Amino acid sequence: MRIPKQNYDDIERIIEFDFVRATEAAALNALPWLGRGEKEKADAAACDAIRGMFDLMNICGEVVIGEGIKDEAPGIFKGEQLGMWLPGAPKFDIALDPIDGTTNISKGMPNSIACIAAASPEKDVEVALRDIPSFYMMKLAYGPGVIRSMKIAGIETIKLESPIEETLMTVAQAFNKRVQDVVVMMLDRPRHKKIVAEIRRVGASLRMISDGDIAAAMAPAYPESGIDLYVGIGGAPEAVLAAAGIKCLGGDMQCQMWPRDEEERRELVAAGHEADLKRVFFADDLAKGKNIIFAATGISDSALLRGVKSQGANAITHSVLMRAKSKTVRFIRASHDLQSKTIRLRSDNREHGL
Ligand code: FBP
Repeated sequence: MRIPKQNYDDIERIIEFDFVRATEAAALNALPWLGRGEKEKADAAACDAIRGMFDLMNICGEVVIGEGIKDEAPGIFKGEQLGMWLPGAPKFDIALDPIDGTTNISKGMPNSIACIAAASPEKDVEVALRDIPSFYMMKLAYGPGVIRSMKIAGIETIKLESPIEETLMTVAQAFNKRVQDVVVMMLDRPRHKKIVAEIRRVGASLRMISDGDIAAAMAPAYPESGIDLYVGIGGAPEAVLAAAGIKCLGGDMQCQMWPRDEEERRELVAAGHEADLKRVFFADDLAKGKNIIFAATGISDSALLRGVKSQGANAITHSVLMRAKSKTVRFIRASHDLQSKTIRLRSDNREHGL
């Protein structure tokens, strides 16, 4: 009998569910650390489960964006190889954050997710997931509703560099609501003092979060989140992961490198990034092309995903799995039987019960 040749033209379609298995495993394995004041241990547990799941995947995966420079955690960093790396296996560039919101986990607070973006090679796309050299980026993220209504009204897109008042007015107009009903999400940081004062002066409604701006930046692109706009300065790797997700959801994001001080600016210039310092990157510049997969699982509740819940003898996980090519958005509520479910961990290369 002739065995039909596997169609590798759309490899993401075949492999995508294993990516969500990896984020589920990270969430389930990190869960015992929720509220225990041990963020490194939570991170290590999530990384162990992600590596363990990749050890079962017939891919050649290379981490192109790993944990941010700020993390001294035992993380997964740029350059690490994930997957089985058997000859002929499909290649993937991988960006991941095993836990976005490690502090939140350690305190038992909301807003932590495990997330992975991956891209297979694509014609005319040299770099799909762009590694941004700065520590932070200034971010502005919005959903398809804003894009659509601006197109219909013939208004030019909102701009990162515009005064926030102007942006809020345009978003209010897009949703046909009063500006005081526009909901803006932002990291609660002293560096946002000025912009917070401006948003309050205009009268829009703020939702501050302590950590975890991947889910937060994606929230406006997800209509049920109740968030209209994400704005503020957060990690650069998180910007790329959010861009991959936002792109699949049909929204957009504008980001600019935000050096913390003169020294970082000088280093970026010396490394040849002077022109890029002025550049505004859109979601498509950070996550380029169509061969992109995005998977995330909630650990604790966020605007995007509910966290892991225990229900009798089961653990319930909430994940999102999407692809840029088809823009299919799957919300996956999975029930894991605590008696039967096992997770493969890299640390001892064995299956473990929950
Ligand atoms: P970690 O989970 O890696 O600690 O990141 C949490 C986070 O809140 C990110 O979501 C965000 O982009 C970044 O930290 C903001 O950095 P900072 O805490 O330095 O303001």
